[in-house]
Amino acid sequence: MLNALLGWVDKRFPLTATWKEHLSEYYAPKNFNFWYFFGSLALLVLVIQIVSGIFLTMHYKPDADQAFASVEYIMRDVPWGWAIRYIHSTGASMFFVVVYLHMFRGLIYGSYRKPRELLWIVGMLIYLCLMAEAFFGYLLPWGQMSYWGAQVIVNLFGAVPFIGPDLALWIRGDYVVSDATLNRFFAFHVIAVPLVLLGLVAAHLVALHEVGSNNPDGVEIKKKKNPATGVPLDGIPLHPYYTVKDIFGVVIFLMVFTVIVFFVPEMGGYFLEYNNFVPADSLATPAHIAPVWYFTPFYSILRAVPPMFGSQFPGVLAMGAAVVIMFLLPWIDRGTVKSIRYRGTIYKSALAIFVVVFLLLGYLGTVPTNVWGQFGSWLGGADRATVVARIGTIIYFLFFVLMPWYTRIDKTKPEPERVTP
Ligand code: HEM
Repeated sequence: MLNALLGWVDKRFPLTATWKEHLSEYYAPKNFNFWYFFGSLALLVLVIQIVSGIFLTMHYKPDADQAFASVEYIMRDVPWGWAIRYIHSTGASMFFVVVYLHMFRGLIYGSYRKPRELLWIVGMLIYLCLMAEAFFGYLLPWGQMSYWGAQVIVNLFGAVPFIGPDLALWIRGDYVVSDATLNRFFAFHVIAVPLVLLGLVAAHLVALHEVGSNNPDGVEIKKKKNPATGVPLDGIPLHPYYTVKDIFGVVIFLMVFTVIVFFVPEMGGYFLEYNNFVPADSLATPAHIAPVWYFTPFYSILRAVPPMFGSQFPGVLAMGAAVVIMFLLPWIDRGTVKSIRYRGTIYKSALAIFVVVFLLLGYLGTVPTNVWGQFGSWLGGADRATVVARIGTIIYFLFFVLMPWYTRIDKTKPEPERVTP
């Protein structure tokens, strides 16, 4: 009876064909490792965020007079409301953890290289959407950090020459962050951006299955196929092999996730900032305003670039460029091999320095600029941390700008014909 039903459906909708094309007869390289868990984990977190978000929306009030209290109501009175909220706030940070690791995998194995340029570009668009989604969502609890964080970021648009002040006014819908801002950020957070995000994730998977996955050896498995079956010699069906492997990743991930939700949901002020447990007050600016950790490398770059003619625009431009430059990776990497396994010392060192600098900038973005005190008058009494952030910013950009050169002169090892065990 089930077969008959399936036959009935298949005549009207390509169910079995889709299952085969994308799962049971989709061949992925057999040498996936730890780094290949994060795509499926990103899908999992996306679902977690949508489901927990729907439940939060049932009780949350997008109103400047009620928003903060409605979140407290969710935390104290709604049955399991605290769990739903902590799942959503933990999910936001874990989304970035997973996506940063997913992107780093792209860097170490050259996954953005031909023929996966579009896959990478769609990924970058997802990353931009994710940042927008997190930014809009962060205003909703209407705490001090929500309010002042939004104020700072929207004011940055005010630094754009000529149209800046009008642009900032247009985004806010008021002269300061207010109820109008909260309402529109709510609309963007719960429906507009998630729709775009879902569309992009679908496009990401379609693009991936068009070209096939890269792997830790950077070898194109489609080049060596079994002549009789047309199946890549180094490929294994996605289902059941990688569906089962991914379930293992999911179990480990959920163990970490639940420990955070139940024991350290604030994560020492990194996942939920302490100042955000204070209701928004437009008359009291917090002494230290910092974005959530996943934005801090870029926030550091923003602060590191000195204003010009009293305008913050150069910093804003540098911050934007720091993200946009990543779109160019497929074209600025001129290496003859994809994977780090066969790259030379130069690329390995460049990448290691880049990672250290990215983490350092990330740390510096979370603390006040004078955290390490000042240099003596011989250096103009500059903040030590600001000087380090400036050097870090220069190194960050050099990693990309010099890439066409150092990837070409790097002494690579020969890539194998087939994937290695
Ligand atoms: C919601 C966010 C995202 C989801 C759900 C997602 C999903 C996936 C999945 C399921 C895979 C295949 C499994 C794997 O290789 O791990 C994949 C591969 C890939 N993704 Fe994403 N992704 C997301 C964000 C991104 C971002 C931000 C980038 C880069 C900017 C990116 C770049 C790539 C690349 C280059 C591959 C192919 C990797 C390879 O074959 O070596 N993805 N993605």
